Amino acid sequence: MAHWTVVGGEQTGGLVVRQGVELSSAKLKERLETGARVAQVELQGERLRFRRLEGHGPETGWVSLKLKEKPLLLPAASLPQAVTSVSELFGGRLEVECLELPKHLRVRVATISDIHVDQKANMEWFQKHLPRKAPDDFNVLLLPGDVSDDPVIFKEAMKMLIESFDVVCYTPGNHDLWLRKSGDCSDSLAKLRQLRRLCEGEESELRGRVRFSPLELKTEQRSLLLLPLLSFYTSDWDQEPDLPWCPQQQKQMLAWMDFRTMKWPELGSSGDSRKICFGPEGTKGLSELFAEMNEPVLEQVAQIQPSTVLSFSHYLPRQELFPEKRFLLDSSLHKVSGSLKLEGQIRRVKPDVHVFGHTHLTVDMVLDGQRYVQWALGTPREQAAMSRAVADSGMLILYDSMAEPCVAPVQETFWGQYFSAGKRDPSQICPAPFVRKYFGQMFKELELPYDDDFFQTTPNPGPPIETYEGLFEPRWRF
Ligand SMILES: [Fe+2]
Ligand SMILES: [Fe+2]
Repeated sequence: MAHWTVVGGEQTGGLVVRQGVELSSAKLKERLETGARVAQVELQGERLRFRRLEGHGPETGWVSLKLKEKPLLLPAASLPQAVTSVSELFGGRLEVECLELPKHLRVRVATISDIHVDQKANMEWFQKHLPRKAPDDFNVLLLPGDVSDDPVIFKEAMKMLIESFDVVCYTPGNHDLWLRKSGDCSDSLAKLRQLRRLCEGEESELRGRVRFSPLELKTEQRSLLLLPLLSFYTSDWDQEPDLPWCPQQQKQMLAWMDFRTMKWPELGSSGDSRKICFGPEGTKGLSELFAEMNEPVLEQVAQIQPSTVLSFSHYLPRQELFPEKRFLLDSSLHKVSGSLKLEGQIRRVKPDVHVFGHTHLTVDMVLDGQRYVQWALGTPREQAAMSRAVADSGMLILYDSMAEPCVAPVQETFWGQYFSAGKRDPSQICPAPFVRKYFGQMFKELELPYDDDFFQTTPNPGPPIETYEGLFEPRWRF
């Protein structure tokens, strides 16, 4: 099915959409936003009947491809052009696989991200939290990336996990694609292919148990779709004002390890070589390339109607899921955390829950009708603060086929509650006290505005939650 991108209507708030093919047919109330992406349902001359995939506007209707000679829609470019070559870069197509399960099984789906098991303490944490499996249990783990950059440790961790989980659904994070050792892969996409072979190769003991592809679990009464969405960050996801006091080193992102430990291939056929831009100047092409890889899967997903959908990605779909810049030790992290395409894809699927990782901040909240969860373990140091809810309570069980309803209720989280209360305000620039303290040590020459007393008058989440005991129901944890 051909895809088109809306390029016209910039001055008029989008394209006029009509009910029928004729230019005299009724105009729909909403316009189709510039930048929206649509699938072609029917083409009659220069009139296109579409189904909206991304962006705002009517779900379907008729639009004109041109106004006089000016194009209003153009064929959606993919990078590189043919989807088959994109899938080659990622080690082959991703396809929804279906597993029929006997109905007496109790299916539970847990999640945890950013397990960073190169840290020995994290491997030990799992010894305390891995579920013991009963014969009628079918346990699944959603693992949205950042396991380890070392394939040997990565494999060890997966072997440990499949002793307790029947299936581990995984999507890679940035750390997994780092190249730090001599003899490592030539680039980070080659590393991704290596990880896929490690999990899915003919000879692999992880085959069928650790999956990069979506999985549909079907019983007589219900079906559950577990949908990984490949993603990569792009700096234009950051739509919020920069802090006037952000130091030069941070603006240049000198401390961001990815820019030193990841490499990307030159893409395109010979004569059409394009370099993927990767650095503080942006990573947009890469973000689009990863999103492109999900397209065939999303087409497939549109054809099935599971009762529950749990999707997951490593990166963030929405900036409102990340604290304002003044709460971060390095505010430039907003440039390397989220993907706009990813959010568009989530909006198309409308999952019951979308799980993400990467920023190591525990969040569970509903935003514009969509529930988002981050359940990251993070480093042992982070476990005493920002990921305490996870470290203290265990993996979050998101779905239990024996519960009614099957999906867990929204959990209490420090940042989730602050964001849900609508207090988040990116226009404020007074640094949080811990940021002021850190800057006092690291950037002594820099004078930060206001003081800690003033900070208390600005919107803030209040003191940290000291303990999560009593704040969660144990039935929703492993
Ligand atoms: Fe991480
Ligand atoms: Fe990450």
